[in-house]
Amino acid sequence: MAEGDLRHLLFTRPEYGGKMPWILAGILFLLLIVSMFLYSWLFEPSQVEVRFIRMKSPKIRKRFRILFFSDPHLYAEMPGKKIALFRDTIRATMERQSPDIVLIGGDLVDSNSGIDLIGDVFGDIHPPMGVFAVLGNHDYWQYNLLHAFQPAFANFEKEPIDTARLKEALSKNGIRLLSDEMVVLDRGNDRISLTGIDTETFKNGLHRKLHLPGGEGFRLLLTHYPDCAIEYPGEADLALCGHTHGGQITFFGHPIVTRSRVSKRAIREVTIGKEEMVLFVSRGMGVSRYFPLRFFAAPDISVIDLISCDENS
Ligand SMILES: [Fe+2]
Repeated sequence: MAEGDLRHLLFTRPEYGGKMPWILAGILFLLLIVSMFLYSWLFEPSQVEVRFIRMKSPKIRKRFRILFFSDPHLYAEMPGKKIALFRDTIRATMERQSPDIVLIGGDLVDSNSGIDLIGDVFGDIHPPMGVFAVLGNHDYWQYNLLHAFQPAFANFEKEPIDTARLKEALSKNGIRLLSDEMVVLDRGNDRISLTGIDTETFKNGLHRKLHLPGGEGFRLLLTHYPDCAIEYPGEADLALCGHTHGGQITFFGHPIVTRSRVSKRAIREVTIGKEEMVLFVSRGMGVSRYFPLRFFAAPDISVIDLISCDENS
């Protein structure tokens, strides 16, 4: 063999040598995507955060504590561990924080099968001023995978939820449904007017005909859609909502899609004080069974204290 040929063999690198960094980068990228998927599927949806919020009001003299959660999305095939997590988190927070009232922001169930779990998860909650709920869109319709890709499949037929059975289960377990109605809660010298607006009323545009009753007391609004709440800026002091799941899949905490006219900042942060009304949007406890992922939008349950302006925070 000639000398020149030998040098050629010694100094020639394998064909794929120049592509190695790209292959490695590709493998690392794939690993990152798989890790993010596993994290958002198996880990984050079960990391329920207990959030503590305080709101000062001249209309409050003695601390009034609200336990608020939304969007549990119950269904029978839900893993037993998850059902126990919801039930135990609610009960433990009740025990530790002793709220005066419990409010639920809708999407209690994800399918008809979830109605049978109402008693198991919410049946043992007895705060002094009661448990109140509004219904969400998933309490009226069973969505499927295609409905996650709205508006492309907006017209794909949905199965209705047996709302009569759902309402019966709520009532049997001491949960009062507020469907376009107000209750007045008196405690000592404080008066709280709690109004619940139904999801179907909002979706059909009928909420514009509703005027929240005024009055001297603190005005609390409970409704599933934040978009509904912002239409009453001067008619409530505090609005509690759910629905958006905190964006569910976010860019490290910054929501990408919320399907809401409410600003992404309002969805992400604790409260956005507009002078007339404070809006609080829960990230929800659960997720739809057809899209069971959460990324930097951990589930939550909130302890909201209404306090007098004199109380030190
Ligand atoms: Fe929901």
